[in-house]
Amino acid sequence: MKNLLFIGDVVGKAGCDFLRSKLSGLKRSYNIDITVVNAENSAQGNGITPQSAESLLNAGADILTTGNHAFRRREAFPLFDSDYILRPANYPEGGAPGKGICTLDMGAYSVAVINLMGTAFMDDLDNPFTVVDRLLEEADTPNIFIDLHAEATSEKKAMGHYLTGKVSGIFGTHTHVQTADEAILGGHTAYITDAGMTGPELSCLGVDSKAVIEKFRFHTPVRFTEADTDCFLCGVCVEFDEKTGKSHKIERIIVR
Ligand SMILES: [Fe+2]
Ligand SMILES: [Fe+2]
Repeated sequence: MKNLLFIGDVVGKAGCDFLRSKLSGLKRSYNIDITVVNAENSAQGNGITPQSAESLLNAGADILTTGNHAFRRREAFPLFDSDYILRPANYPEGGAPGKGICTLDMGAYSVAVINLMGTAFMDDLDNPFTVVDRLLEEADTPNIFIDLHAEATSEKKAMGHYLTGKVSGIFGTHTHVQTADEAILGGHTAYITDAGMTGPELSCLGVDSKAVIEKFRFHTPVRFTEADTDCFLCGVCVEFDEKTGKSHKIERIIVR
């Protein structure tokens, strides 16, 4: 049996620093073999930068996934040449840099990670259901984990049921709020609609709530800044059989 840790959207420098302070202890206590972190908001003011990516990789992340903020910063583009930094696979081929699948060689076994983005209430990318079919044909390991970065609960649930028995785990990101519906689908596939976020807890998704309230009340332009409150870390730990790709256990994690 092996253990994979998946951590939801890390927000800003505060989120990166908090992750760095907690990750090695968490990896020890859960006996973690592989750590996947969603980094789409890891830079100050959103997106991912070389500095924020380096801080997460140095903290102990093996693979970074992203989402709708993947290309927010121009300086991020070369990052996606890395084998271990993913953007959603359903960006159109030919223009967007990077790729949406990678395989981690663990010696006696390997693990593939796929990053996808939902299309309900989000950018109109390629259909994630047909894109994932193609990627699953390419993957030559039974151990496949997916970060589905999506807004709609229904789209994430549908993908979970669609991929039951075909992947080891599928974790939602993007809403920044951890859901309490973790399950092992079909005795095989670990699932949660959203893994939650890592960063300032008393906030609007990591952002200072004053500015967000102003935006909703008056619809005037505001500058979003990172909230200055205590951080928490949200994610899930999955125990899986690396020979069959079957997950046996999923546990929600919140560290304050
Ligand atoms: Fe996010
Ligand atoms: Fe997002």
